[in-house]
Amino acid sequence: MPITFDASSHIFKLDTPSSSYAFMLFSENYLVHLYYGPKVPDIAPLAALMDRGSYDSFSPRNPALITDRSFSLDFTPQEFPGPGCGDYRIPAVEVRSPAGDTVTDFRYVSHKIYPGKPALEGLPATFAQEGEAETLEVEALDPVTGVKAHLLYTVFAQHDAIARSVRLENTGVRPVDLERVMSLCLDLPTMDYDLIHVYGRWAKENTTTRTPLRHGCQSFASRRGMTSHSYNPFAALLRQGAGEEQGEAIGVGLIYSGNFSFEVEVDHLGCPRLAAGIEPSTFCWRLEPGESFQSPEAVMVFSQQGLGGMSRTFHRLYNQHLIHGEWAHKKRPLLINSWEAAYFDFDAAKLVEFAQEAGKLGIEMLVMDDGWFGERCDDHRALGDWQVNEEKLGCSLSELIAGVNQAGLKFGIWYEPEMISPDSDLYRAHPDWAIATSGRVNSQGRYQYVLDMTRKEVRDNIFEQMAGVLGSHKIDYVKWDCNRNITEAASAALPPERQGEFFHRYVLGVYDLMERVTKAFPHILLENCSGGGGRFDAGMLYYSPQIWTSDNTDPIERLSIQFGASLCYPVSSMGAHVSANPRAGIATKGAVAMMGTFGYELDPRKLTEEEREAVKSQAAAYHKDYELIREGDLYRLTDSAENRNFCDWEFVSPDKERALFTRIIVRRPDLVFQTLRLRGLDPEKLYLEEETGRICSGALLMSAGPGLCVNPWATKDGDCIVRHYTAQP
Ligand code: DGJ
Repeated sequence: MPITFDASSHIFKLDTPSSSYAFMLFSENYLVHLYYGPKVPDIAPLAALMDRGSYDSFSPRNPALITDRSFSLDFTPQEFPGPGCGDYRIPAVEVRSPAGDTVTDFRYVSHKIYPGKPALEGLPATFAQEGEAETLEVEALDPVTGVKAHLLYTVFAQHDAIARSVRLENTGVRPVDLERVMSLCLDLPTMDYDLIHVYGRWAKENTTTRTPLRHGCQSFASRRGMTSHSYNPFAALLRQGAGEEQGEAIGVGLIYSGNFSFEVEVDHLGCPRLAAGIEPSTFCWRLEPGESFQSPEAVMVFSQQGLGGMSRTFHRLYNQHLIHGEWAHKKRPLLINSWEAAYFDFDAAKLVEFAQEAGKLGIEMLVMDDGWFGERCDDHRALGDWQVNEEKLGCSLSELIAGVNQAGLKFGIWYEPEMISPDSDLYRAHPDWAIATSGRVNSQGRYQYVLDMTRKEVRDNIFEQMAGVLGSHKIDYVKWDCNRNITEAASAALPPERQGEFFHRYVLGVYDLMERVTKAFPHILLENCSGGGGRFDAGMLYYSPQIWTSDNTDPIERLSIQFGASLCYPVSSMGAHVSANPRAGIATKGAVAMMGTFGYELDPRKLTEEEREAVKSQAAAYHKDYELIREGDLYRLTDSAENRNFCDWEFVSPDKERALFTRIIVRRPDLVFQTLRLRGLDPEKLYLEEETGRICSGALLMSAGPGLCVNPWATKDGDCIVRHYTAQP
């Protein structure tokens, strides 16, 4: 049983294959956190070691425990702390009572342990069958407001991961306001950790930053309505001395696509508290008696193999227990997208020519990007008018698709369902459907407004328009784009006291629409996008197995963008295309896109003969290495942020029979011979290096390395080296 409750010590212990998490019921039913770290057999002695020796009168305590000098909420690690009773650190929850105060004090009432994992109402979350996971549900009550908390902890049998969320239920008789609901709170006993997360902007997402924890608060957040290019809802705490493949790492990922916040506070005693969840300054939720509020889910991962081990756990967990639907494990077609090849300048004849050329090269699907609907000749108009512009195409959509299919390719299409152009029939008919605040000028982003997705009639309209096209044509793929963030946030359909719910209701509305589209058209492969990686998060991954990682297709800049994304997200989810970008040759562009979904975004008619041959062999490599890249383990061997000359990575199949190593020469080095060790191979096995015919043991490759001699006279910046390894019988 991975979850146990010891009735004599009152300790809950949650065991994953190699980690343990524990908390206890302290006197007066406080939920006191005890431990998160490497797997341990016994926890009970820890309870006795909780005394932090801080006894002064400035650490107030419950009078029932006034003689217990080891206890004060001021320094006790807690599972679900609220403000106002002596815990002065960042709270996990804050409820404004009918009396107007925010004192919040949840105490244990009961618990149950059951197999499997419940779904979260209206929200994407990890899923598991009986036998794959076990769930602990702890009920705690704030007796003054009557709000009950259902704290959920799911332990996965095969992964060092624990999923957490909370549902708050108003069992009182008067409404309350939820001002803060964090999905996860984690108290740690020492501050010898570095905080790692990613930051960025449009076309430069996922730059990794690493800073030591220090006294006070460190935080990052999105208040843009979407997860954003600026920060990603993921953080890692790396124990001092830990690195890419060694030492302890704790990762936290939030399965959410809206405003979020990650905060770490190191208190006056040097103890960190990490809280992650919905961003509180843009959130306030009125909870009427009898109503419930479900928080998004957060996933905690523990690794003793550094960041790399943590990433691999996230990758496996998200591939097996988050991404769902037909396409989660089905082989995805090799696609070519029209955007960088044509932008808005296309008609059916041009797209069919693309398909014919692409088909000869082994490409399997053509995606018609932005520009096929309404009066959409540029980005100034027509979002919301999802009717095919036959005049622009020069034929019907069915005829275009038939032409593409005749060339042997499947067909995909672009949508931006959450947006409305001021110059659109939809806006002229329903100006109040755009998000706006009364009395203020409505800001535009890319000449567009955002639709009020909190309103069912808006979602119904967009769904019906989408279903009209998707249901009557042979469409195999949809790219769901989202090209601006929210401003002047308010809904004409919400009363003033509920406007604080707007941002979360927006996200729930988007999830509802995605759920309807994916349920109605389960055969369609959905790819999310938000001007590249503006909404690259685990919430979106639940609906779409792949997300366009960045609008930046420069293969060298893509290295750090994709490495940053791979901290938490599987390579199989990272949209990556070979484009006409001149920064490197087609081999390197292919090698970099291969660390992703792989596809093309260029005019295939303009390829040189040499490039056409390269594309043909890349298409063959796509099929050959598909399983290895999608199901294999990723090892980031060197990071271009640290090593200015090279960026190296490796995939190893789960059975260690195959491996793929890729090196990008970012800058031609001074030293010609570099020792680089492969990882994750079977030391006992002999591997054939396919490109050279050499046979080496796994032990040698992992100790002496593959022996890469980079000849400075024959090498250019931006070159690549690719090596395949196959275990010999
Ligand atoms: C932004 C996306 O990231 C691009 O790939 C493309 O789809 C454009 N939008 C189309 O407007």
